[in-house]
Amino acid sequence: MKVRDSGMPDEEMWTGFFDPSRVLEVLGLCRGVQDVVEFGCGYGTFTLAAAGIASGTVHALDIESEMVDVVRRKCAEAGITNVRALVRDFVADGTGLNDNSMDAALLFNILHHEEPIAMMKEAIRILKPNGMLAVIHWNYDPTTPRGPAMEIRPRPEQCIVWGHEAGFCFSDHNHYNLPPYHYGLTFRKPFN
Ligand SMILES: C[S@@+](CC[C@H](N)C(=O)[O-])C[C@H]1O[C@@H](n2cnc3c(N)ncnc32)[C@H](O)[C@@H]1O
Repeated sequence: MKVRDSGMPDEEMWTGFFDPSRVLEVLGLCRGVQDVVEFGCGYGTFTLAAAGIASGTVHALDIESEMVDVVRRKCAEAGITNVRALVRDFVADGTGLNDNSMDAALLFNILHHEEPIAMMKEAIRILKPNGMLAVIHWNYDPTTPRGPAMEIRPRPEQCIVWGHEAGFCFSDHNHYNLPPYHYGLTFRKPFN
């Protein structure tokens, strides 16, 4: 089931909202990270940047085959070989990844899902102990040029509550401002 309000504008407009490498750097996704999963990769705006950092595989999942095709084409053109782009409905079928297998999970612009805690629980299942869950989302501000309807747009405080309910650890200093339109949060899977 496609996450509500998760359609994309054209690629040029979408990519104009982000500096992907900078976002990953601010969130602390740095060299040393091995395997990464992205829930809903869209145009691969962050997938390709993550692939340049990860020493292992970036698993890029999207329900839309057109999006997966775009990511595969962009990787082929850039000579990137460590992205596994896959058509998959992670709501209906989960990620299909093994327990305790990922170093980082990216939930970028997707947490306005009807069941955010279920998605975070799938992330915690597949993360290694101390693995990182990184979230970015549109600021809770009706003047942003895109983003889900305000009625379903999560505030950072709400995401933190959901993260705790899913079993993650969170520290206040892991709340980031990602101008011009986003905030970021990073959570850790406890060691036990
Ligand atoms: C708003 S876009 C965000 C894309 C990307 N994370 C980014 O920030 O650039 C959300 C993406 O999630 C995908 N998506 C929505 N529901 C999904 C589901 N159930 N399983 C897999 N992908 C899904 C959509 O097709 C879309 O490409």
